[in-house]
Amino acid sequence: MDLQLHGRRVLVTGASRGLGYAVAQVLAQEGARLAINARHADTLHAAAQRLRAATAAEVVPIVGDVSQADDAARVVREAAAALGGLDGLVTNAGGPPPGRFEEFDDATWYRAFDLAFLFHVRLIRAALPALRASDLGSVVAITSISAKQPIPNLVLSNTMRAAAVALIKSLALELGPEGLRFNAVLPGWTRTERVTELLAYRARQKGTTVDEELAAQARASALGRMAEPLELGRAVAFLLSPAASYLTGVLLPVEGGSYQGLC
Ligand SMILES: NC(=O)c1ccc[n+]([C@@H]2O[C@H](COP(=O)([O-])OP(=O)(O)OC[C@H]3O[C@@H](n4cnc5c(N)ncnc54)[C@H](OP(=O)(O)O)[C@@H]3O)[C@@H](O)[C@H]2O)c1
Repeated sequence: MDLQLHGRRVLVTGASRGLGYAVAQVLAQEGARLAINARHADTLHAAAQRLRAATAAEVVPIVGDVSQADDAARVVREAAAALGGLDGLVTNAGGPPPGRFEEFDDATWYRAFDLAFLFHVRLIRAALPALRASDLGSVVAITSISAKQPIPNLVLSNTMRAAAVALIKSLALELGPEGLRFNAVLPGWTRTERVTELLAYRARQKGTTVDEELAAQARASALGRMAEPLELGRAVAFLLSPAASYLTGVLLPVEGGSYQGLC
């Protein structure tokens, strides 16, 4: 199937490694023109260079912290200016720290709110004029399976993801009449640096090793393994693409069958 992404102008935030990078990799392979973002210039530029070398795609790196209001707006502005507009936006960033409810004060909750919820709002709001000017404006938010099934010791993330998927559903309704599509992917356990950090935390709590926790988490999915980032990247690229033209308000779990509810 042709995803019809060739020449499409897409901004992917949080894309120097992990899930965001995998999304950029698939979009670049499909011939999209990309702006990618992260906070650290060195790793972001290296990621852009790897993508260009592997695919010959146009990849513009834009450094910025999307949990900060000014930076989020600037990153979108610079991406649209560099690419001559935007057809797609993938909102992604790092996750809040693990921990139990009583460990977190208000300041930590506000930081989690900026990092895992409000950044979607800010990026989408800044991108709307460019997306409206496109004939195919489409947004995919990377959230978490915890929006459906909270994960122990991730109360900050669990709470913000639920709000993020409600936002995406609301925008699909409100802006669908303008032809804009809004979808979310809900990743399960996918092999990235964040997962290693989270499982190191769990291993310390339980007195086990990271390898033991990796193996246990892999067994918890119906497929008996964790996802590879590209498996998530392909799902995002499809939802973002014109090939998914009648899909909006979809909250797509990509979790290998670890979620056991009926809906
Ligand atoms: N991996 C999983 O299994 C999984 C499952 C469910 C949900 N998720 C969620 O999906 C998201 C991505 O996960 P991941 O595993 O790919 O994480 P990761 O390996 O930590 O990668 C995060 C990426 O985002 C960038 N980033 C972090 N904070 C940023 C910010 N404030 N502004 C701009 N860029 C930022 C990082 O680069 P810099 O450090 O240079 O900024 C990096 O490129 C996270 O929110 C995570 O909680 C992951």
